Amino acid sequence: MPTPTVSAARTARLVGTLAPGRPAYRALADALRLAVADGRIAAGTRLPSERDLTAALDVSRTTVTRAYAVLRESGYLTSRRGSGSVATLPSGARPRGAGSLFPADAGEGIIDLTCAATRAPAGVLEAYERAVQQLPAHLTGAGYLTLGMPELREVIADRYTARGLPTSPDEVLVTSGAVAGIGIVLRALLGHGDRIIVENPTYPNTVDALRRGGARLVPLAMDPDGWDVAESARTVRSAGAAAAVLIPDFHNPTGALMADEDRAVLARALRSAGTVPVVDETIAEVDLDGTGVLPVPFAAHDPRAVSVGSSSKSHWGGLRTGWMRAPRSVLPALVEARVTTDLGAPVLEQLVLLELMRAAPGLTPERRGDLRASREALVAALRARLPELGFRVPRGGLSLWCELPEGLDATTVAIAAEDAGLLVAAGPRFAVVGGLERWVRLPYVLRPDVMVEAVDRLAGALESVRTTGRGTARRTAGRTGERRTGRPLVA
Ligand SMILES: Cc1ncc(COP(=O)(O)O)c(C=O)c1O
Repeated sequence: MPTPTVSAARTARLVGTLAPGRPAYRALADALRLAVADGRIAAGTRLPSERDLTAALDVSRTTVTRAYAVLRESGYLTSRRGSGSVATLPSGARPRGAGSLFPADAGEGIIDLTCAATRAPAGVLEAYERAVQQLPAHLTGAGYLTLGMPELREVIADRYTARGLPTSPDEVLVTSGAVAGIGIVLRALLGHGDRIIVENPTYPNTVDALRRGGARLVPLAMDPDGWDVAESARTVRSAGAAAAVLIPDFHNPTGALMADEDRAVLARALRSAGTVPVVDETIAEVDLDGTGVLPVPFAAHDPRAVSVGSSSKSHWGGLRTGWMRAPRSVLPALVEARVTTDLGAPVLEQLVLLELMRAAPGLTPERRGDLRASREALVAALRARLPELGFRVPRGGLSLWCELPEGLDATTVAIAAEDAGLLVAAGPRFAVVGGLERWVRLPYVLRPDVMVEAVDRLAGALESVRTTGRGTARRTAGRTGERRTGRPLVA
């Protein structure tokens, strides 16, 4: 597999202006070390040659040579004759956070922000009641709806059409959620050992599913505010990948939204590389600000795309329903793969989703209002209590992707936060190949007053890490004594 590379231009952008008042090579080494440690340059990526970086940075060749030497000594760079200088993590550094996300059963008094999902919104219970009334008509059949309920496929297709991508029901398959959908893609379309591009950072359960399926992952570097599309196209061209799993709509964890023109550029690169886009649209409906028109679904730029959707964020995770939209010619292969693990989504839940989508295919105004209030409370509390945390407020999605000040390690902070009664997911959990050690994801999915309390606890955790280098080990009501931070966490 070719070694992924980072261009000199992007490396120069990541380095930025070299801090004055110290030797330039030191400042450069520090900037590069930070970029490798927090995953902006993924471990395993080949850095530009000294000559190219010298030119891109407009510094002396000696500055770059000495900076690379410092990185080599500290374990952040390995140089091999013929294969250039490859970014590495020093031995002892965590390769990546502890695996998938599935929910810890937080005890009483503990605030759990490891899950970027909310309780069921108003209207779900009533939708179940109406669905139960319709159930008798379905009890006369066998109940195996491997493609999905025809009326639901139609409503889903109509939603795509309304979003700017004309779709007919026979391009839609109802699934048991987006994670199930990714699993179907893996089994139907990908072979063991295939190269698959994934954004870095990304949703961890996808990384784990792909890895377990034998994929060789190629990280696509993302900035905190989104995609460097020229660099992404470069990665696509050099990766020789069978597929690229992308989250262009309110990406988890950054919340970034890919612009239409960037979708077009990336789609072109994917098409000419023969790489199939697999588009995870789980969060696409969580548009909180609703200002301006949303970009069209990625598949509008590439008819080969397989889109994976879900009702988990637009409606409720407990429905365990979702869908896939794929070219008609691909659908039979998806159905064949689907029936090897799951013979269809439950009839009652499909009826419920049908009810909910007929009433509001995306977020209801009430749900949007609740999420905005929680986001506002989180943002205000962070600005007041932790102004040193860096974050952008995305137009949609469910989380803030927060950068800790230099010198603080996210996993240490997460452990200290747990001691203070707050569970958060540290950056390394979202990393494909290590790094992201200065990032934490803060979902705004709980009541505003709880978000404020969460920030209070986080501030306490940061304080204790700064003063003692670790958590306070304060016992909190509901603690079972078992540490949860390192355990796999869902959403
Ligand atoms: C990007 C992404 N994909 C998939 C999922 C899980 O989706 P589902 O509940 O439909 O399986 C999540 C949940 O957070 C997610 O953020």
